[in-house]
Amino acid sequence: MTISFDFASRHVFVFGGTTGINLGIAHAFARHGANVTVASRKQENVDAAVAALAAYGAGVFGVTADVRDFDAVGRAFAQAHERFGKIDVLVSGAAGNFLAELNQLSSNGFKVVVDIDLNGTFHVMRQAFPYLASPGASVINITAPQGAIPIRYQAHVCAAKAGVDQLTRVLAMEWGVAGVRVNAISPGPIADTEGMRRLSPQGTEGGTLVQGLVPLGRLGTSEDIANLAMFLGSSAASFISGAIIPCDGGGAIDSVKPMIEAAAREQAARPAG
Ligand code: NAP
Ligand code: COA
Repeated sequence: MTISFDFASRHVFVFGGTTGINLGIAHAFARHGANVTVASRKQENVDAAVAALAAYGAGVFGVTADVRDFDAVGRAFAQAHERFGKIDVLVSGAAGNFLAELNQLSSNGFKVVVDIDLNGTFHVMRQAFPYLASPGASVINITAPQGAIPIRYQAHVCAAKAGVDQLTRVLAMEWGVAGVRVNAISPGPIADTEGMRRLSPQGTEGGTLVQGLVPLGRLGTSEDIANLAMFLGSSAASFISGAIIPCDGGGAIDSVKPMIEAAAREQAARPAG
């Protein structure tokens, strides 16, 4: 079955949209006619994403900005607004992750993840609002199972993503009166990402474990997440707000925790250096 979406002349802004899952989301919206803005830290990632997205023929704009820099985030929205007007769909998905036992985490190590994932989401939400189509905009935060499930070696990510989930719920309440919907997608393990290749490579204990533990028996793809993002960005989802929606083959029930813990055991067993 094919679902048909039409985002022609809509402005979709994807923060952290230059690689991985978020780039997959940007591709999906561009393929369905949207004018797409992507933003992230590295100029080379922005340039590569813009070049790839241009293939669909709609408008593409790229901005270099670090979500930790409140003013830079504001400038990114102002420039994108100048280019394509009000934002119809905002996806906020910049994140950082590494495996570390809490006793091995420096103050800066904890802070860097909270700064990118949680404070960065706040910066994106706070600076975006004046540029959102109101009524009508759909805001989609990309969270993770760690927001709801405590996982060893992920204290920093668990704390940050739990904060993202609560920001999502609070903003759904505060922005509902303006006709702006706010939801979050919680992806399960997604095969075609740098994070999965780094944290749980195929062929390792962690990589093998996960496939058997996902009730649907496979890893996800960026396309799986993009399909949900397009649904949430469309009028078909016009009565959905404040929801944290897993897109994980049923894995939120129990797969992520043993997978990440196995990956951390493997990392600890590796010779240093
Ligand atoms: P990824 O490929 O590393 O993508 C992260 C994106 O964020 C990149 O575009 C990166 O570009 C940007 N970024 C990182 N730090 C930034 C910063 N400080 N300021 C602005 N942009 C920044 O990661 P991914 O695995 O696809 O993950 C995407 C989202 O899905 C994240 O929110 C993650 O938590 C979530 N997630 C992923 C999985 C998975 O299986 N991979 C599972 C659950 C949830 P630059 O490097 O150019 O900044
Ligand atoms: N274990 C323990 N601490 C670690 C670590 C690890 N594997 N990796 C980084 N850190 C610590 C560093 O030691 C540093 O702390 P210190 O100053 O006390 O030494 C702190 O984290 C910041 O590291 P730094 O490399 O300076 O940060 P950065 O801003 O350049 O990069 C990261 C941020 C660490 C989150 C990096 O992994 C990143 O850019 N990730 C984006 C991509 C990604 O993670 N994608 C997956 C999304 S789920």
